[in-house]
Amino acid sequence: MTTATTTDDFATLLDTTAAETEALLGTLLSDAPMPGEIARPRRLIEAMRYSSLNGGKRLRPFLTVASAEMFGVPRAGALMAGAALECIHCYSLIHDDLPSMDNSDLRRGRPTAHKKYDDATAILAGDALLTLAFDIITRDEVHRDAGVRLALTRALARAAGIGGMAGGQMMDLAGEGRFGDREPPDVAKLQQMKTGALLKYGCIAGALLGQASKEQYGALDAYGHAFGEAFQIADDLLDVEGDAAALGKPAGQDAALGKTTFVTQLGIDGAKARLRDLLQQADAALAPFGSKGDVLRAAARFVAERQN
Ligand code: IPE
Ligand code: IPE
Ligand code: MG
Ligand code: MG
Ligand code: MG
Repeated sequence: MTTATTTDDFATLLDTTAAETEALLGTLLSDAPMPGEIARPRRLIEAMRYSSLNGGKRLRPFLTVASAEMFGVPRAGALMAGAALECIHCYSLIHDDLPSMDNSDLRRGRPTAHKKYDDATAILAGDALLTLAFDIITRDEVHRDAGVRLALTRALARAAGIGGMAGGQMMDLAGEGRFGDREPPDVAKLQQMKTGALLKYGCIAGALLGQASKEQYGALDAYGHAFGEAFQIADDLLDVEGDAAALGKPAGQDAALGKTTFVTQLGIDGAKARLRDLLQQADAALAPFGSKGDVLRAAARFVAERQN
């Protein structure tokens, strides 16, 4: 595309990737066991399908596909890597909503997994989605070069685990004061970890698939970093200013749970100012890609303007 990507163009691109991701996840989450598996218990696969199909913006797979496209990577491999990432995201949402975490009843406009099924089934559906992600990311269809698949796998583990999403979720809960912590958390680090790490992975997965140069990898890393923080600030603003019907999840929850966010630390206007700065940072990071970066530029604008 030679002209800048408009909001409408972006919406179409996002819808297309969402539909492709949905179809792929549907296949990956079939009832039939894979070689090496013994059986796929019906209640568990149903809960996994319930929690990962029919909804979600699919922004993380979009980032992978759009980043990979800048390097001319075949779409099928990028979609597979995106599907692996989406499995981790869906698992993180199931666990985030549990009574022992954020205790949410609504997700993507429907009852959360533990409400629809039960806590134990929800925990296991999350576990199995996490594991499935690593099965998917190592498959030959992701990339012909095993070294690339290994790099993708290691980066995914680091984005999802103790130094990434899971660690960030721990800091988020500690920030409520539930473990007796007196110091407020480092919100920037907390958000980089709990949300930023998986979004950034979406971008660097594209760079890894495309066997990017060091400079290109660094540019996508910097873009993903700014994008991730912007995304969570927008989420925290929507929690204050949005409504449950549009969000498909409860609003006002962060204050009710006593979460520490940029909105609590900087106020609504301060958080919006930081969001604007981050958008500029995201834009600037894409400079090495010239107009090829326009789709990712539009993605950053979308994140700031989104209503759900
Ligand atoms: C919601 O993520 C959870 C956060 C990390 C804040 P999304 O807003 O991407 O959720 P879906 O996938 O579109 O439902
Ligand atoms: C969730 O953050 C982040 C992860 C699931 C890792 P939030 O708790 O703010 O997400 P929502 O608002 O419930 O979607
Ligand atoms: Mg949470
Ligand atoms: Mg939550
Ligand atoms: Mg939130």
